[in-house]
Amino acid sequence: MPQLPDVPLDGLYGDLVMEHFRSPRNSALINDADVEGEEFNPFCGDRAILQLKLDGQGNVSGVSARAEGCSIIQAATSMLSGLLNGKSLPEVEELGERFRDAMKNGADGDEAALGDLLALQVVRQYPVRIKCALLPLTALEEGIKDYRKKSN
Ligand code: FES
Repeated sequence: MPQLPDVPLDGLYGDLVMEHFRSPRNSALINDADVEGEEFNPFCGDRAILQLKLDGQGNVSGVSARAEGCSIIQAATSMLSGLLNGKSLPEVEELGERFRDAMKNGADGDEAALGDLLALQVVRQYPVRIKCALLPLTALEEGIKDYRKKSN
């Protein structure tokens, strides 16, 4: 396996990343999920799996998020999962765009909607690790794409 740079996880943001890594949220499997996406990083062998249950209005009523691999992917998966309940799929996608933009270009100070995901800004100084943080989002986006294909 290639050696990726370690992200120093100290300070307030680092503590939050470690807290999610140690106690991941929403890790219980959903047996009858409407949306399910899995993304694998062949570079390191890590993976993220996101599942959503939708209510009659098409809003998220259940979330399952699991990741195998580095602390960053596990924390990012947990953090993302905590922001999805109650949102419509377009709202989930909008949140995803904000998160991706903040990871690529930096948060601009008006990113309260990103909640705990903001802690992942510590990863930005290590461009190769940005992919770790975005892998769960890619899994979620792929799952939404598949869901729309199936429901059309
Ligand atoms: Fe593989 Fe982080 S090292 S996703």
